[in-house]
Amino acid sequence: MIIVGGSSSRRLSEALARQMGCGLAGLETKKFPDGETYVRLHQDVKGEDVVLVQNAYPDDRVIELFLLQDAIEEAGARHLVTVIPYYGYARQDKMFNPGEAVSARAIAGHLELDTDEIILVDVHTEKILDWFDVDARNVTAMHELGAYLKNTGVDIVISPDKGGIERAKAAAIAADCDFDYLEKTRIDSHTVEMKPLKSDVRGQKVAIVDDIISTGGTIMTAAKQLRAGGATRVYAACTHGLFLQESLNKLRGVCDEVVATDTLEGAASVVSVAPEIAKAIRERSQ
Ligand code: R5P
Repeated sequence: MIIVGGSSSRRLSEALARQMGCGLAGLETKKFPDGETYVRLHQDVKGEDVVLVQNAYPDDRVIELFLLQDAIEEAGARHLVTVIPYYGYARQDKMFNPGEAVSARAIAGHLELDTDEIILVDVHTEKILDWFDVDARNVTAMHELGAYLKNTGVDIVISPDKGGIERAKAAAIAADCDFDYLEKTRIDSHTVEMKPLKSDVRGQKVAIVDDIISTGGTIMTAAKQLRAGGATRVYAACTHGLFLQESLNKLRGVCDEVVATDTLEGAASVVSVAPEIAKAIRERSQ
């Protein structure tokens, strides 16, 4: 088996290659003067089982992902598993207004063309899996995040909205603590409102766990509310840390620690999803 790590996922690909005990393909990527993307494999993958790791975000990386799939197929790989640690466009999973694209479905329709399997990580909604005609699975980082949070001695894991309750539950099981959720209403891209939490968090160490931190508005609102409710320590943890608009620094001003995984590689990526991806690949090949 050979791992091909796209530009968005170098660290994660290296970690995955170590986990799987297999090689990482040499890869050249660059831009032509007109801005178009160029990719070239420096590895013979003919007849090999290949695992490609690359985010479908941002737009440039989506193009690189399509080109890498094509290069691997053209080179005669026997089987291709496309691992997409961060599946962008997932939040546009329906037509919210007439005339809009269902972006998550459109991206799926193109990604399945040149692959045998797809593995996603904490995809925003699992209904996206149904839009792939090839085998598509979702793995979760919540066990790894929960194990990390256990070391902080956290008392309760909180989802910032009802939709994330299963993720919070999975993290809480790994952290060996309680879980609950806040009721969030999104006002606009930057503003959310939350009803007061029913659980009493006075004197407790709480962890807010979400799939994505984007502008940070959700976690900021939740963290302030939990502090006001008497929480002594507030941790924020997510799978996908986009941290737009300096939100990592802003959140660090309110939270005791902000933790993300390496699906998006950045300053807060202290938890790796490589073990979960490796497990999913091994389960399939047995
Ligand atoms: C929304 O449903 C997601 O689970 C996240 O809560 C959301 O994407 C976070 O966005 P932001 O950081 O901009 O509040």
